[in-house]
Amino acid sequence: MANSKFEYVKLYESDDRLLPRTYIVIRVDGRGFHQFSKKYDFEKPNDLNALNCMNKAAEGVMRNVQDVFLAYGQSDEYSFVFLKDTNLFERRASKLMSTVVSTFTANYIHAWSQLFPNNPLDGNFLPTFDSRAVMYPDVQSLKDYFSWRQADCHINNLYNTTFWTLVQKGQLTPHDAQTKLIGTLSADKNEILFTDFGINYNNEPEMFKKGSILRWEKLDHKYPKNPTKRQLDKYRKSVRDAKINILHCDIIKDEQFWNDVLAEEDTAATTTPTS
Ligand code: GTP
Ligand code: MG
Repeated sequence: MANSKFEYVKLYESDDRLLPRTYIVIRVDGRGFHQFSKKYDFEKPNDLNALNCMNKAAEGVMRNVQDVFLAYGQSDEYSFVFLKDTNLFERRASKLMSTVVSTFTANYIHAWSQLFPNNPLDGNFLPTFDSRAVMYPDVQSLKDYFSWRQADCHINNLYNTTFWTLVQKGQLTPHDAQTKLIGTLSADKNEILFTDFGINYNNEPEMFKKGSILRWEKLDHKYPKNPTKRQLDKYRKSVRDAKINILHCDIIKDEQFWNDVLAEEDTAATTTPTS
């Protein structure tokens, strides 16, 4: 209904375009997953299927939302980074956030039915996620963002592993385990695990200790500039067929990882549409 007398209402829509030439990171986080994990009886402290369900959902985002070149997830959260020069939805925050979080949720529910065939979702207790968008102005702040999330994973996982070992193997009540851990440093928790339970924390699964990184094997699926229908079909097929690698490496210290990822991002950025 163009030019109707009602059209003035469009003026109330705020311009929420994110700044140009910044790395846009969208982080999704499970809502009330403390309760959700109890309801569906997740293993403590880490449920392998639940983490794989998050990874599958994130893969769905990488494949369906163009220009996401890297993702990192742990516990009930996942972060997605867009190419610095992306012009998807004209960089409008609300469109980017809502597309990422709804694509993630849809894929999570789809993956759930495959990973938990004997534990179907209850219509009154469905998984939902919130999302936020943050802009990082340079590579250093982007690296620091990921380091922050991976450090969070490490701190929580070491705490949770020690806590649940004290409860499950040490027969402590949750209250006593919590009291025992007050004021302890990482070294103390490692010592408790090793001396009292013979567990070497270093041998715990890498996914639990470091979280999961998703990246394209090769960015050979660059979004064509002003694509024709044929080019668009070809692009969609290449994304569908492209391989996504899942890594559990140390992204805080590994300079090579960042050199590789950012070299790819640079190449892709030059072919990303800007209008
Ligand atoms: P909001 O995000 O504020 O809605 O709260 P939340 O309940 O989702 O908690 P938060 O995001 O801070 O933390 C995630 C919670 O999910 C953890 O504290 C755990 O209780 C639960 N969780 C995530 N992954 C696992 C898992 O693999 N196993 C178990 N048992 N619980 C998990
Ligand atoms: Mg949460």
